[in-house]
Amino acid sequence: MTDFEKELSAAKALVEKRLAEFFPGDGLQAAMRYSLLAGGKRIRPILAMKFCEAAGGAMEEALDFGCGVEMLHTYSLIHDDLPCMDNDDLRRGRPTNHKVYGECVATLAGDALQAAAFQTVLSAEGPWQEKGSFAPAVAAKILAEAAGEQGMCGGQYFDTIGDGKVLHTAEELTVINNKKTGALLRAACMMGVAASSGHRVVEERCFEAARVYATNVGLAFQIRDDMLDVVGDEAVFGKPIGSDREEGKVTFMDLLGLEGCRTAVEECTRRAEEAILSWPDHDFLLTLAHSLEERKK
Ligand code: IPE
Ligand code: IPE
Ligand code: MG
Ligand code: MG
Ligand code: MG
Repeated sequence: MTDFEKELSAAKALVEKRLAEFFPGDGLQAAMRYSLLAGGKRIRPILAMKFCEAAGGAMEEALDFGCGVEMLHTYSLIHDDLPCMDNDDLRRGRPTNHKVYGECVATLAGDALQAAAFQTVLSAEGPWQEKGSFAPAVAAKILAEAAGEQGMCGGQYFDTIGDGKVLHTAEELTVINNKKTGALLRAACMMGVAASSGHRVVEERCFEAARVYATNVGLAFQIRDDMLDVVGDEAVFGKPIGSDREEGKVTFMDLLGLEGCRTAVEECTRRAEEAILSWPDHDFLLTLAHSLEERKK
């Protein structure tokens, strides 16, 4: 294992352990737990923790912010898979939430995970309490903006109903992807920066660098997702292959082809890299961005 892989798996283990503490009950909690603990990559909480660290905090101080983003992300996936949206049967290598619990419970599990996300962020404890900065409120505001109409939900609206157009230009698709996928990744990174405020006053340019890094990682991430929807291996990807075409979605694969997508992913990753190069502690974030270029799941 490389140092990067060791760091990545240590951060992921921390997230898994913390997430497992949340919904131990039966009924609706069982449905929430089913999707939350189904083994995602945990990229968003890992980004939150590593941005906190890179900005001068300790990784653990952003753990609950990261878990909040992961709950919100999981809700977005449960709803994204519903028959009224992408109508998918497989997620994280298992039957989708509504396939197991039915559409009513799946809808409620998503709703409840969204509320739990904000509860978790606003209940987080850390050294900011002594510094008179209330990082949880800052983080909750960042998350609310990313989740709503200006962010993920707005992007999902255009991805599904939107302007009624099936064919979007590359510029239009970029706007959609920047909202539906970019927004939560951006929130994760910026909430991580906010978590470092227990140690020092966080400068605006720190938030700005996180914003630019995450925006470009987000664009690359969705293009890679669209590639894997065509050329991925279902057993590894954990989602159905060909779902976008079946749903009549036009993605970057249609506009640019496989090679064009590869180049676009490289270009976005290069821009993400540039945003944090001047940070003293950027190695992990840089390697993470590059590892996502080649991801298979
Ligand atoms: C899937 O996100 C939805 C997209 C934004 C493409 P991830 O690829 O992060 O999914 P998990 O969390 O690892 O399952
Ligand atoms: C979804 O994009 C992003 C969300 C906000 C959930 P996709 O619809 O491409 O995500 P997958 O492929 O189902 O994970
Ligand atoms: Mg979708
Ligand atoms: Mg989908
Ligand atoms: Mg997809």
